Amino acid sequence: MLSIVEQDHGTPRRDSDKFVTLTIDGREITVPAGTSVLRAASEAGIKIPKLCATEQLEAFGSCRLCLVNIEGMRGMPASCTTPVAAGMRVATQNPQLADVRRGVMELYISDHPLDCLTCPANGHCELQDMAGAVGLREVRYGYDGANHLDQPKDTSNPYFTFDPSKCIVCSRCVRACDEQQGTLALTIQGRGFESKVAASQNVSFMDSECVSCGACVQACPTATLSENTLIAKGQAEHSVVTTCAYCGVGCSFRAEMQGEEIVRMVPKKDGHANHGHSCVKGRFAIGYATHSDRITKPMIRAKITDPWREVSWQEAIAYAASELKRIQATHGRDSIGGITSSRCTNEETYLVQKLVRAGFGNNNVDTCARVCHSPTGYGLKQTMGESAGTQNFDSVMRADVIFVIGANPTDGHPVFASQMKRRLRQGAQLIVADPRRIDLVRSPHISAAQHLKLRPGTNVALINSLAHVVVTEGLVKEDYVAARCDLDSFEKWRQFVALERNSPEQMAAITGVPAANVRAAARAYATAKNAAIYYGLGVTEHSQGSTMVMGIANLAMATGNVGREGVGVNPLRGQNNVQGSCDMGSFPHEFPGYRHVSDDAVRGLFERAWGVGLQNEPGLRIPNMFEAALDGDFKGLYIEGEDIAQSDPNTQHVTAALTAMECIIVQDLFLNESAKFAHVFLPGSSFLEKDGTFTNAERRISRVRRVMQPKSGYADWEITQLLSNALGYAMNYRHPSEIMDEIARLTPTFAGVSFARIEELGSIQWPCNEQHPSGTPTMHIDTFVRGEGKFLVTEYVPTSEKITARFPLILTTGRVLSQYNVGAQTRRTHNNAWHEEDRLEIHPHDADERGIADGDWVGIASRAGETVLRARVTERVQPGVVYTTFHFPESGANVITTDNSDWATNCPEYKVTAVQATRVTQPSEWQKRYRAFTDLQEHLLKSADAGK
Ligand code: SF4
Ligand code: SF4
Ligand code: SF4
Ligand code: FES
Repeated sequence: MLSIVEQDHGTPRRDSDKFVTLTIDGREITVPAGTSVLRAASEAGIKIPKLCATEQLEAFGSCRLCLVNIEGMRGMPASCTTPVAAGMRVATQNPQLADVRRGVMELYISDHPLDCLTCPANGHCELQDMAGAVGLREVRYGYDGANHLDQPKDTSNPYFTFDPSKCIVCSRCVRACDEQQGTLALTIQGRGFESKVAASQNVSFMDSECVSCGACVQACPTATLSENTLIAKGQAEHSVVTTCAYCGVGCSFRAEMQGEEIVRMVPKKDGHANHGHSCVKGRFAIGYATHSDRITKPMIRAKITDPWREVSWQEAIAYAASELKRIQATHGRDSIGGITSSRCTNEETYLVQKLVRAGFGNNNVDTCARVCHSPTGYGLKQTMGESAGTQNFDSVMRADVIFVIGANPTDGHPVFASQMKRRLRQGAQLIVADPRRIDLVRSPHISAAQHLKLRPGTNVALINSLAHVVVTEGLVKEDYVAARCDLDSFEKWRQFVALERNSPEQMAAITGVPAANVRAAARAYATAKNAAIYYGLGVTEHSQGSTMVMGIANLAMATGNVGREGVGVNPLRGQNNVQGSCDMGSFPHEFPGYRHVSDDAVRGLFERAWGVGLQNEPGLRIPNMFEAALDGDFKGLYIEGEDIAQSDPNTQHVTAALTAMECIIVQDLFLNESAKFAHVFLPGSSFLEKDGTFTNAERRISRVRRVMQPKSGYADWEITQLLSNALGYAMNYRHPSEIMDEIARLTPTFAGVSFARIEELGSIQWPCNEQHPSGTPTMHIDTFVRGEGKFLVTEYVPTSEKITARFPLILTTGRVLSQYNVGAQTRRTHNNAWHEEDRLEIHPHDADERGIADGDWVGIASRAGETVLRARVTERVQPGVVYTTFHFPESGANVITTDNSDWATNCPEYKVTAVQATRVTQPSEWQKRYRAFTDLQEHLLKSADAGK
């Protein structure tokens, strides 16, 4: 439990090798050069009144409250905008300064409502604090003059209220939106007394470009911008630091609490991944945790057409265990398996794979990373020797060229996108490779130098043509390659990419990208002092996902762009703990730390530690489990925190496989799509209800801390432990920290990690061991983890998913900012105000040809199935390409996607499906069946409720 208010030194910290000594109020103080006088004083414990300054933003110098006297300088300079100088002598307190400050405060207060006692900011209002600090006792002008007190409130945003009657026009909100968020949605309109804060062109917040990140709310020193929960509930009485459970950025938050109730989530200023920033999901979309749809009691049923029966934990666990044992006795040891989720903590995921390997006695464990970043793990391991990104997020601030491939950071990784945009506004060059015009291509003060608008499915052709330019135009960093890479493999690769068939001119017919743009992009990337690649699921979710990851690694190594700050190969991981779930050994072929199950030494280590014999062959991957289920060989599945019936491709194939099983155990918060096929429901806990760790896209391990008791009585790791014990494999952990201790004992890259060490350092980027006791922000600095960087030949092989006269369009999929993945959490929050349905984006040309108008219902048919969505006609997509999101189950986006997958890892080819789109008037047959089945399952759930 930590203090509620974080200290604010007024201006940002400066990092400098040079230090400056000055005297403030007679005290000698030494700070880094470039520090403001205000900050230098504050760090030394000398408080200078301030209002327009905050350490999250550059100083602006508008309120005139922080005035000081500086020997040799005329007048009273603002300490927030005055940098320190050697030998400077500053006085912060004297009667003259006090008079001026009181005068400033008098003017503010004369135009401010005097409702402090009922104001939501009461007790943490900086205006109130400053009135006290300057000793304001009376307002000589009275309160009857012209004022702004009758300004109407803007309540359009579901999460915060704008009450302009309380605004002191300090512009902190405007600067937060500009500097921190990079959306530039706010302005100060008018001058002098008329000046006021306006969203966009003076519209409501909801109608403006605002993306509801909340940075302005956090920056506001008064109650002008306040969270609605704060207005409704009042001040928190304690706070707990934890980590966001949505995306792979891994933002650190203070959960401000009243007892067990959250008042608000405030991003932590010294959060290593987010530096005090957040997005709409992490800050506001937490209502799902207490939503009435939460199931908090265990339930069982014999058949999926039976009503659910609410039972005790004891009965549920005993039933689940007996069913798993019965299935194994009848159908063999390998007839059951487990799936864990990237939403779970490291400790929970570790326990699930341990349960499967040691308790079930097989290696049939897999994770949702199978369907997103498994090619990253494979491709980076093959080329560089480690299945993870190479940098920390802050590294982007040293990049001169930023190359974004198949990622949409402003929607998928918003807080990192804000940091990236900051660097781009400072002048770094941007290259985007994406079939669609993502927001980053053109946003305020940012314009991509190149947007390589490739056809979906042609990534490898594009990366080869970029490499061709590097190799044939003499842009290889020869000395770097000679010193650090495997030269045989490099020569093979060099000869391959130099082939004329890989030239941008030849490849243009495949990729659709003009050769001149490819050449320009390759030159910019290869000749930059520091060039960094950031990529996402647009790289991995292809039949050649692993090949593309290797192609990216090849390009980065050939140009010397790995092993220092500002460069690197950076997978933007989708879910909060994708990195961690892979690290924890949740793939069927690997123990924690990416060590193959066939390695006798490693297996021996785990056998001794766990006291059981372990299989030496990889188990079933998720798609193999489905196949085996349909073949009648796979009958029981334990699923923790994952919704395969919605998130995996070819839904009808998945649901047929689920229907074929005899015992499906789902551990989750809600009756999700998979739970509709389940026989045992074990109520899980949200991230707010448990202790543990998440590992973000930077390999950063951060603490998740319990802020409220588990609603079902148990945290998820405890439920896994109960099941394991009931199966006869004993687990006796008393706290998740003991699980992490075991992970550290058995995994060299985690050897130095413990809850105590994380507490000490705030967070740790693995590897963390004897060589790197404080973690590893940048990887592969002197040598690659595998020794020499290995180049792999990346032949372009077109996907078998071809467009034809019957299916002439390519469907590709993605996400939006406000919803998260299958939407189970965000759909149960006010985030629906931004995105209440999945729509099909279609180019005007394709829409016209089919007589489709914006908002029309459109049937989308593929070789796998058919669904119906409403159309959004837009030039964001290119002709021949349609796009949708997959946040709502009834949209059936995955009814259309096929079984095609990456050759190396089986990661589904979500990004390329040949489809036809036609105007229709009613839901698809699948949607009708889905509705009927869902109605039945909701009815069967109500039976359990009725029996309470
Ligand atoms: S919530 Fe974020 S995007 Fe919206 S106005 Fe405030 S700072 Fe800008
Ligand atoms: S809304 Fe708040 S932060 Fe913005 S100008 Fe007004 S008082 Fe300052
Ligand atoms: S950027 Fe990601 S981790 Fe950060 S608040 Fe948003 S969803 Fe959470
Ligand atoms: S705090 Fe320095 S001028 Fe406002």
